[in-house]
Amino acid sequence: MPHDIVILGVFVADAAFRSDRLPALGETKIATGFTLGPGGKGSNQAVAAAKAGGNVGFITRIGRDTFGQMGQDVWAAAGVHALVMLDPDLPTGAAGIFVEDNSGLNAILISPGAAGAITQADLTPHAAIITGAKVAVTQLEQPIAVAHAFLRMARAGGAITILNPAPAAALPAEMLALCDYVTPNEKEAEALTGIAVTDVASATAAAEALLAMGVGKAAIITLGANGALLRDRAGARHIPPMQAGPVVDTTGAGDAFNGGFACALAQGMEVRAALDFATAVAAISVTRQGTAASMPTQAEVLALLQR
Ligand code: RIB
Repeated sequence: MPHDIVILGVFVADAAFRSDRLPALGETKIATGFTLGPGGKGSNQAVAAAKAGGNVGFITRIGRDTFGQMGQDVWAAAGVHALVMLDPDLPTGAAGIFVEDNSGLNAILISPGAAGAITQADLTPHAAIITGAKVAVTQLEQPIAVAHAFLRMARAGGAITILNPAPAAALPAEMLALCDYVTPNEKEAEALTGIAVTDVASATAAAEALLAMGVGKAAIITLGANGALLRDRAGARHIPPMQAGPVVDTTGAGDAFNGGFACALAQGMEVRAALDFATAVAAISVTRQGTAASMPTQAEVLALLQR
């Protein structure tokens, strides 16, 4: 079955704790809140794209366990077509997430579990879907070599390729050259380019370095509460943030942005309109607790864009 959007990535269960601050080493602290829910960057992006109106196939590996079932449930509810390998031995992974009470900012420790064992051979059964997609998206939570192979297959099929290079890593130039778009945050942009990103000017410099390293169409650097920076062949443009309500939890905002961007490109929007759509998806997501659970519907996104 063909899909407009194909995403390779990780599903994990997110164990998210809220507190006024992180505990120090050796300290025990009572949290102000806790949620257990579906996460993993690739899965979150697939859920975001599907809820925003995309026809999405998601390639991953999970264990035969309760967390794996949580993934199957969230994909079914969002309308994501799960292209899933069930690992015979390894468990589904988990992420420990700290969310700061006042700001909604987060820090994440992830163990990818079965998804960390995805291999290039796992892509082969889905080759027709990868080469037939309009838009292909991946990240770096599964092995980088597999993300690289996925991008190569997608590029050979003519898909628009998007790499969300998270978590931060240095990457070979030949891998960046397979990407039409890269979408790092400030820290990820610094890991790729060596340029510390602290404002729009340094983001522009890092984005230009990424184009010089071989990125095809544009580097888009997400800047948290400051929106995003687009640098394409036409020049640089600051994409301002949108407000959809009080910020509760920023975890997964980058995934909301990437899923929304992929959805908009697959619908034929040009890049600037697609970034407005992505910004709206992210703006709504941060007003809600959780990651996959915070992704808005297409109707909610369109309502915000018309406001
Ligand atoms: O981007 C947020 C995601 O990063 C969380 O859902 C967590 O699982 C980690 O993968």
